[in-house]
Amino acid sequence: MYRNNETIVEILADGLHHTGEDIGAYLGVTRAAVWKQVEQARAKGLTIESSGKLGYRLIPPEDPLFPPLLDIPGCEIEYWHELVGSTNTRAAELARQGAEEGTLVLAEVQTGGRGRRERGWASPLGGAWFSLVLRPARPPSEAQRIPLVAAVAAAEACHDATGLFPGVKWPNDLMLNGRKLCGILLEMSVEAERVQRLVMGVGINVSQRRSDFPEALAETATSLAIEGGKPVKRGDVVRAFASRFWDWYRRLEAGGNAFYREVFLPAYASRSVTLGREVTVAADAGTYAAKAEAIGAAGELIVRMDGGALRPVWAADVSVR
Ligand code: BTN
Repeated sequence: MYRNNETIVEILADGLHHTGEDIGAYLGVTRAAVWKQVEQARAKGLTIESSGKLGYRLIPPEDPLFPPLLDIPGCEIEYWHELVGSTNTRAAELARQGAEEGTLVLAEVQTGGRGRRERGWASPLGGAWFSLVLRPARPPSEAQRIPLVAAVAAAEACHDATGLFPGVKWPNDLMLNGRKLCGILLEMSVEAERVQRLVMGVGINVSQRRSDFPEALAETATSLAIEGGKPVKRGDVVRAFASRFWDWYRRLEAGGNAFYREVFLPAYASRSVTLGREVTVAADAGTYAAKAEAIGAAGELIVRMDGGALRPVWAADVSVR
């Protein structure tokens, strides 16, 4: 069942005409109630024609994100046309109310998109903005592995959908030609040494043009459509992400430390544009130069300082020099 209750869209998803009477009879509601549902679906951006005797017909959107038109493996979708706020905030709310693992909040536009380190996240039309509720069985100390897994899954998904090869900048930014393509925001609540709920937000720039980015991001952000030079469907990217992510997530849950070290980390490292490089680490406590050497068991970056000592980096902006 979809949370938004757009059953009418499921009926119209075949692209054929259906009369209000037929739909009403099928759903067990009045024609007025059918009309109301049509109006609700229109308000969410769908084009539904209505013509006298023939009834209603859905004009299939080019790149639908609307649940009945978009099947995402392993997820139950809550869809927003314009979310006043952030999909992460909404997913956390649902998680607090008991939403299960796999609940996915998806928005065409977010007015209050949030980024890492208390930054904002520009979320106009054209990106894939979504948050996934997770309830990992493994201890909280391992939860920071999950956004790394999401970064690899997102890189693979972008490749599946476009053939492009984004790199991963620690911890979980995707980069293409030196510009940011995707960011990931993990938020969790821990009680009694267990992860109660975890919300993983993913923002992928999919079909924006250069002029769609705010001026401040013009030099630093990019999208799949810009880099690939052709249109890309957000639905394809989200679907590919879910399938890649669940595969990694399940294997990580089952395989634990050995899987993380022996299978996941090599996959992460092969995508990394940070490991092995001279970097500048900008942390709250100060900025310093170092060499990025490895990823630790809890997802931290391990850097070698000028004097040769190793230091873990937990939260910082790390740029390649
Ligand atoms: C970053 O700073 O790199 C992380 C950006 C994360 C953005 C995504 S968009 C969907 C989800 N909702 C949010 O408010 N943020 C995340």
